[in-house]
Amino acid sequence: MKVLVVGGGGREHALAWKLGHSAEVSQIYVAPGNGGTAAEPKTTNIEIGAEDIPALLDFARRQKIDLTLVGPEGPLVAGIVDQFNHEQLPVFGPTAAAARLEGSKAFAKKFMQQHHIPTGNYAVFSDLKDAQDYIRSRPAPMVIKADGLAAGKGVMIANEHEQALQCVQQMLSGERFGEAGRHVVIEEFIQGEEASFICMVDGEHVLPMATSQDHKRRDVGDSGPNTGGMGAYSPAPIVDDALHRRILDDIVYPTVRGFAGQGTPYVGFLYAGLMIDAQNNPYVLEFNCRFGDPEAQPILMRMQSDLATLCMAALAGQLDQHDIQWDVRTALGIVLAAGGYPLEACESGAVIKGLPTANELSARKVFHAGTRLIDGKVLTNGGRVLCVTALGNTVGEAQQQAYDLVQQISWPQMFYRTDIGNRALAENG
Ligand code: GLY
Repeated sequence: MKVLVVGGGGREHALAWKLGHSAEVSQIYVAPGNGGTAAEPKTTNIEIGAEDIPALLDFARRQKIDLTLVGPEGPLVAGIVDQFNHEQLPVFGPTAAAARLEGSKAFAKKFMQQHHIPTGNYAVFSDLKDAQDYIRSRPAPMVIKADGLAAGKGVMIANEHEQALQCVQQMLSGERFGEAGRHVVIEEFIQGEEASFICMVDGEHVLPMATSQDHKRRDVGDSGPNTGGMGAYSPAPIVDDALHRRILDDIVYPTVRGFAGQGTPYVGFLYAGLMIDAQNNPYVLEFNCRFGDPEAQPILMRMQSDLATLCMAALAGQLDQHDIQWDVRTALGIVLAAGGYPLEACESGAVIKGLPTANELSARKVFHAGTRLIDGKVLTNGGRVLCVTALGNTVGEAQQQAYDLVQQISWPQMFYRTDIGNRALAENG
């Protein structure tokens, strides 16, 4: 089976790596891939950008690709799945209609309201004066979201009214996020602990991934600016069996039934970003129409089932005939980022030193994100550069193993959080 993975981040490295374990898979292409995917067995990077849908389509047609997996939200929201479906090329991901769940925050909030899915109170604005009046009438903190895609940077938690007023002014004027910010969602701030709940969906049936939790803020103690994620671990101790059941019953199934009911069935990875309040009630903060990054790295390290088989089963509408086997151990991933991330342009081209060879790794894996392999050297090429991931019998052991490996890797201005997994450690050891 020939597989195409679209994207070039850590999530796509983890997907390609996992697909490479499948006896069914003979060849994996990654578009455009990174320095990590360039070195995986059975895997070839191709020079096509993740957003270049005509070129991807042409490649899949010519190479007779049996399965395409789309990592990032951009091409999904832009309709890559619709175009592959139109040419009967097998692709696992939501259509543009279903991907609106991530592509428009206003659509997602309305959808949740219609289907009684628990989420914070909100209002949507395109007029600055109306938005300002609303902000002044609400208690701070509050959450301001650009309606459209903003490369994971479109959400701001405003602790004071002044901050919120400035933020809507910048978004609605187009100064921040361009067209994506011309509508804003202003939302109630819900206090609690975050968890990521990611499932495979075949239009009707749902197969949950192992639970996970990421660290979205840049700095130690969950402070500093929001990022795409500075580290993640799986499982998330906060999601016990009862909460797991509730998330499926109150959030995931109503979402899947809602899309089926409106004639646009949801197929693909479905990611619910949740806030669990002090009474253990789950609320949806956001939906994503894809696997999480960096959640994919620890989750896929724990997955013992064949991912290619599961994707093909999903395309046949047969996820109800499968379950997923998980390594009982905890997996924990630490993102190593370049100086300036996420606020400034990051310097690329620094040589990364100390990367282990495959033979030196035991129950550990360095997933690449912003890297390039040039003349045998791995160079930095983006904000989030690597995700050092380890398995351990306890959270503490996984954390120790991952941080031990981080110590041997370096490049100028590399930085990382030193407390990934500490919350789970406090809860679970
Ligand atoms: N880790 C957050 C995300 O993938 O959106």
